[in-house]
Amino acid sequence: MNDRYFITFEGPEGSGKSTQIKLLQDFFKAKGLETLVTREPGGTKPGDSIREVLINKSSGNLEAETELFLMLAQRCEHLRKVINPALKAGKVVLCDRYFDSSVAYQGYGRGLGAQKVRKAHEEFLGDFLPTLTVLLQIKPSDGLKRANHGGTKQLDRMECEELAFHEKVYDGYNKMAEAEPERFIKIDAVGDPKIISNHIIEAILKRFKELR
Ligand code: TMP
Repeated sequence: MNDRYFITFEGPEGSGKSTQIKLLQDFFKAKGLETLVTREPGGTKPGDSIREVLINKSSGNLEAETELFLMLAQRCEHLRKVINPALKAGKVVLCDRYFDSSVAYQGYGRGLGAQKVRKAHEEFLGDFLPTLTVLLQIKPSDGLKRANHGGTKQLDRMECEELAFHEKVYDGYNKMAEAEPERFIKIDAVGDPKIISNHIIEAILKRFKELR
C-alpha cells in the first residue's frame, strides 16, 4: 500500500481546515497526483448519518463514551472502505479530522483520557496513523467567532460547548503535537489563507523531498 501521503488536518473549531485542504489539494494536483478529500465524522453514507447524531443539537448531552464509540464506528467504515482503498490506489488522501480529533475532543475535552482513547482506537482499528498531521492553531475564542460567521451561522452541538471545553481541546492538541513533533506540523491559522497555505506547503516540501 502506498501510504506515503495520508495527510490529516486538525484544529479547534473555526481553524479554516476546509479552505486549507482545498489549497493543498490544488498543490498536489499540480504535481500530477490523484487526490481524495474526505472528512470525519463522515466520509461514508453511514458515517454521514452518524455525523448528524454527533453534531445535531437535537441529540442533547451524549455520554463521553457514546461520543467516542460513534466516532470509532464512523472511522471503521471510513478507514476500511474509503481511506485504505484510496491509499492502495496510490492516491493522496487529505482528511479533515481523524484519530487525533478523538484524542483531543473525547480524550482531553470530555476527560476520558488520551491513553484510553488511543487504546480503544488501537484495539479495533490498529496502529496505522497519518503520515503527516497539519495542526491549524487558533485561540478557541477566536475560532468560535469565525465558526459562526459573525452570527449568521448557527453553531452545532460541539461548537456550542462552553469555552472551557474548547480550551481543554486546544491544550490537548498542543500536548499531542509536542509529543510527536515528527508527525505534526503546527501552523498559525490566523491571517491570509494563501499565506497560511504557503506555510503548509513549505513544511510539506521539507518532509517529502521527492515533491520538490
Ligand atoms: P467539523 O465541524 O470540523 O467537521 O467536526 C465536527 C465536530 O466533531 C468537531 O466539533 C470535532 C468533533 N469530533 C470529535 O469530537 N471527535 C472526533 O473523533 C472527530 C473526528 C470529530
